[in-house]
Amino acid sequence: MSGADRDDPAAPTPKSAGGDGRMWGGRFQEATDALVQRVNASVDVDRALAEEDIEGSLAHAAMLAAQGILSDEDEAAIREGLEAVRADIRAGRFEWREDLEDVHMNIERALTGRIGPAGGRLHTARSRNDQVATDLRLYLRRRQRALEELLLGLRGTLVELAERHLDVILPGYTHLQVAQPVRLAHHLLAYAEMFARDQGRLADARARTNVSPLGAGALAGTGFPIDRHLTARTLGFDEPSRNSLDAVSDRDFALETLAALAILMMHLSRLSEELILWSSQEFGFVTLPDSHTTGSSIMPQKKNPDVCELVRGKTGRVYGSLMGLLTVMKGLPLAYNKDMQEDKEGVIDALDTAEDALRLYLGMLPKITVHAARTRAAAANAFSNATDLADYLVRKGLPFREAHHVVGRLVARALELGTGLEELELPVLRAESPLIGDDVYDVLALETVVDARSSYGGTARAEVERQIAAARAALDAEATP
Ligand code: ARG
Repeated sequence: MSGADRDDPAAPTPKSAGGDGRMWGGRFQEATDALVQRVNASVDVDRALAEEDIEGSLAHAAMLAAQGILSDEDEAAIREGLEAVRADIRAGRFEWREDLEDVHMNIERALTGRIGPAGGRLHTARSRNDQVATDLRLYLRRRQRALEELLLGLRGTLVELAERHLDVILPGYTHLQVAQPVRLAHHLLAYAEMFARDQGRLADARARTNVSPLGAGALAGTGFPIDRHLTARTLGFDEPSRNSLDAVSDRDFALETLAALAILMMHLSRLSEELILWSSQEFGFVTLPDSHTTGSSIMPQKKNPDVCELVRGKTGRVYGSLMGLLTVMKGLPLAYNKDMQEDKEGVIDALDTAEDALRLYLGMLPKITVHAARTRAAAANAFSNATDLADYLVRKGLPFREAHHVVGRLVARALELGTGLEELELPVLRAESPLIGDDVYDVLALETVVDARSSYGGTARAEVERQIAAARAALDAEATP
């Protein structure tokens, strides 16, 4: 393929390019081995950064002209040429070439093909090392923002569901054993809190991503009188990176993003796990929408929670991308090393995976049917009011440890009789403790049990309503106008 450009009327064969496709070919006499060319090339992956590459080049060229390093005519030609290349890429008529290795050299070659030698001046005072770091930061910034928007939407969906299901009561679990009854709204708001922190983590990562490496050159800076502050401003970065070696060497901003995505997927995976359990015949708490479930090729009765399972499963690939890049980076001396070319595939895959997962949940959650009678029965059937009976005895003066024993014996008695605590006759209750009076039945009623937990952040109706209002206010404050 190294001779392919000879058939390409757009491609010149400048002497500086060694007469073949390789833009660094000057000192080389032997052609690149075919397998080396394939493995060395990153264009299949990094062409995703084409828009950012062009944006960075436009800013760089404008700065070079402003500083008198590039003539205004050359700058204008480069700008028009890059815009034409961008139009080709957007229209899908750009021919990506593996022999040109990566997105940077593909675009530069296409530019030179269009405008001639002026295109070769674009790379003045720049290296692919600061170029790729710039591209990746611009790309990540854009995708981080999009994910933050989706998370904002997901939080809104959860708050809406919480409002709709304020009076649905279900068992709260510890060790997946029924513990105390909670409002479904309370349970959903717990996830809204997690996703708010995920959004915050992405915003934090974005703040540290939004720094400009452009002008760091290969590693040491440049002798040309460039203005790094100008390109940083043009590209919407908060500032230029302060150290050129750091600028081209580190990928911590990508790692932070991956860490945030890994945690986000962990949260989505737990929610998935709960929906998988809840939609099983044994629980029967919810029915997932047909649009987000699938059937079995052999068992006609089946309705499988594939979306939830896939989100749970794909969490593994996102963890893998985080581990992969951490491992790529751990032994690298400063500054740029080709190992770092391995950064993009995992990051882009993790971003795509998380974005898909969020979109799937945004589509599925509002369409879930809740079986309130089922969740209520499950909450009422499993002695979830036992703590309340103990608390009742404590209020009547019994030390908590003794109350715990009394209630334990009453639970055993109820199990024998096959009833709930609230169904035990008063004499049966009083046989274990004469402190128990008629007023106990009110304490043991499910609504009373739930609404008793009125501490800040608890599951009582008034408290959950306050949490909903607070979540709404936070969403309104964050919504982009
Ligand atoms: N394709 C390369 C990457 O993704 C671009 C930087 C290459 N720099 C170099 N000196 N070979 O990392």
